Amino acid sequence: MAINFFRSVLVGAAAVAALACGARPSGHFTLWQLPSVVDDHGNSYVIRTANDSIIVIDGGKVAETAYLRGFVGALGNRISAWIFTHPHFDHVGAAREILADRQGMCIGHIYHSRFTDSMLVPRQGVEKPRQATLWNATVDSLPDIPVTDLHAGDELVIDGVLFKILSEKNPEISRNLYNNSSMAMRVEDDSKSVVFLGDLGVEGGDKLLASEYRPYLDCDYLQMAHHGQNGCTEEFYKSIKFRACLWPTATWVWNNDVGGGFNTGPYTTVQTRRWMDEIGIKEHYNSIDGLHRID
Ligand SMILES: [Fe+2]
Repeated sequence: MAINFFRSVLVGAAAVAALACGARPSGHFTLWQLPSVVDDHGNSYVIRTANDSIIVIDGGKVAETAYLRGFVGALGNRISAWIFTHPHFDHVGAAREILADRQGMCIGHIYHSRFTDSMLVPRQGVEKPRQATLWNATVDSLPDIPVTDLHAGDELVIDGVLFKILSEKNPEISRNLYNNSSMAMRVEDDSKSVVFLGDLGVEGGDKLLASEYRPYLDCDYLQMAHHGQNGCTEEFYKSIKFRACLWPTATWVWNNDVGGGFNTGPYTTVQTRRWMDEIGIKEHYNSIDGLHRID
């Protein structure tokens, strides 16, 4: 396994140039979108490089811990890099369980966008800091695992697979603070690209769209923001080019049905689904349908 880490100040301009002229990373990866095993909206992706390095993005909820343990166990029980989009429990819940009781799992490195101390101060009208406080305490309690605070523009190259960070914590956006602080990233190999949006909301998505990282949003596979609803805007989705949707969701979110029938609940997933139909997306990978593998 080879991991190279570059700060954007070193390679940002060169990377843009390389992308513009069509150069691609040399490595190759397999991506799995893990299923919604308890019909909940955990966000969980596993990547295996051609050299058998395992990279996990988030990992889902506490209730999905056993599935994640089994999945990683079957791949060798070693995670080379565990990358977290943001510290909500549907993203770090299983990870917190595993980090507290590893059961033989080896974890090489943790990457996240660490909430600053000022983001952990309770503020009127801002989501309570409890989950981020717990997450920071979790990663601070791991003397044997290096933890890196990533920033927009940073790049990890693992066995020739590029992980480019497109967004990071946004302490200045108080509305929907956690979700808008999602660390979006582009993962690219010799033949495909995937953009993970985490749970980006309107403000975080718009900031990303207006940023220098906009060119990296065009991709083959796009993970729909915030489990497919109440995430990025219609303009966001209709401004970028992609071929397929990854939906890390649950049946009740997908159908906006919490007991009253189709599209009667509080979620906006059906609207997002309509946008995708209007764009003409025909290829969908939905966690409620089970495990999906993309090569
Ligand atoms: Fe989430």
